[in-house]
Amino acid sequence: MSQSEPLLKVENLKTQFFTEEGTVRAVDGVSFEVQQGELVGLVGESGAGKSVAAQSIMRLVEEPGRIVDGTVTYKGRKLVDIQERPDGTLEESEEMLSQREMRTDIRGREIAIIFQDPMESLNPVFTVGGQLREFIELNREVSGSEAKKIAIDMLREVGIPEPETRYDEYPHQFSGGMRQRVLIAMALACEPSLIIADEPTTALDVTVEGQILDLVDDLREKYGTAFLWVTHDMGVVAEICDSVNVMYLGEVIEQAGVDDLFYDTKHPYTEALLRSIPRPDRTVESLDPISGVMPEAINPPSGCRFHTRCPDAREVCREAHPKHGPPEEGATTDDPTPPDQGTTGDERDHLVSCVKYEAVGYEHSEPLENESTDAFAGGLSELRAGGEDGE
Ligand SMILES: Nc1ncnc2c1ncn2[C@@H]1O[C@H](COP(=O)(O)OP(=O)(O)O)[C@@H](O)[C@H]1O
Ligand code: SF4
Ligand SMILES: [Mg+2]
Repeated sequence: MSQSEPLLKVENLKTQFFTEEGTVRAVDGVSFEVQQGELVGLVGESGAGKSVAAQSIMRLVEEPGRIVDGTVTYKGRKLVDIQERPDGTLEESEEMLSQREMRTDIRGREIAIIFQDPMESLNPVFTVGGQLREFIELNREVSGSEAKKIAIDMLREVGIPEPETRYDEYPHQFSGGMRQRVLIAMALACEPSLIIADEPTTALDVTVEGQILDLVDDLREKYGTAFLWVTHDMGVVAEICDSVNVMYLGEVIEQAGVDDLFYDTKHPYTEALLRSIPRPDRTVESLDPISGVMPEAINPPSGCRFHTRCPDAREVCREAHPKHGPPEEGATTDDPTPPDQGTTGDERDHLVSCVKYEAVGYEHSEPLENESTDAFAGGLSELRAGGEDGE
């Protein structure tokens, strides 16, 4: 852990959707930190709760969703500070910012968010430059002509050729990659300390994605901006992240510096995600054939939520909910000692939620029979055993 206060600290965040079918525990007790200038990954399959976590930090969760517990502290200010009372009612602390303060002080100026689909954020009937200029005028104390100059500079900065001409063009005249660059320009325009990027390169082809990731890396160096990078793609994580949080069914199940996560992987789910990218063009999306067995967040499995799919699952995994923390003394793990060059050398703790790393008797427990486990472990789509979950 770093000695200085992190830029963003998320503690025990819980967000639920109250639907007719039941309560969806989309984010279920998530904690992580982002240091100044750090690029932090939030990775997991579709439905893990990544976007809801990102929206919760910005207080953008929509009905029937609600943040029901947790704190989010940004530069010492409480973006979220909610406690669930024992009777189930919610208590918001006095310190928690109002929606108005979120709008005027935080969103855009301090924390910007970039979404997967630029067309959601760009208005098709106005020029790209006009939208960028208006955004800058709204958020910074500058005149219209200054704002236009900043807008053109920002377009140049994110690698848009002939920015003076392209300033007057409409979003549909830009390619997908160029539109995503415009959004990055918009996010950077108010010089925020943190940018939350929710799968911004997922819709792009691999080459364009690589160019955008390079750009982000350069801009981060230059401006010192921190990023929370949401993705389902371990390849992207490897390329740009400093540290990583792996999510499964609403929980963070492994946290580590990027080198530790790749070279000293602890959680079986993280291992499975890593196995799913043997080729650069293959992403977690290729796990789709087994995504049918990812349980519902409405009624998550008992014990370890991954036990219905985990190749290492034993009886104890069905009962014990793993603690999230560093591996315990006296735990049985068949973990190889990490190679020397594999550790990052920073002091960040490597945290994991798996009973293999707790002294709860995993080694004496009987293996759990699980067909989806076999499919997951043994080559994925080809081995999909009937497609049915054993539960
Ligand atoms: N508006 C909503 N109503 C009900 N459930 C929702 C809503 N939005 C998201 N969820 C549920 O919350 C869970 C997490 O979703 P999400 O954060 O979008 O996943 P990810 O971004 O990791 O793919 C999923 O089970 C999803 O179905
Ligand atoms: S607790 Fe058990 S089921 Fe969960 S990841 Fe660890 S070994 Fe697998
Ligand atoms: Mg998402």
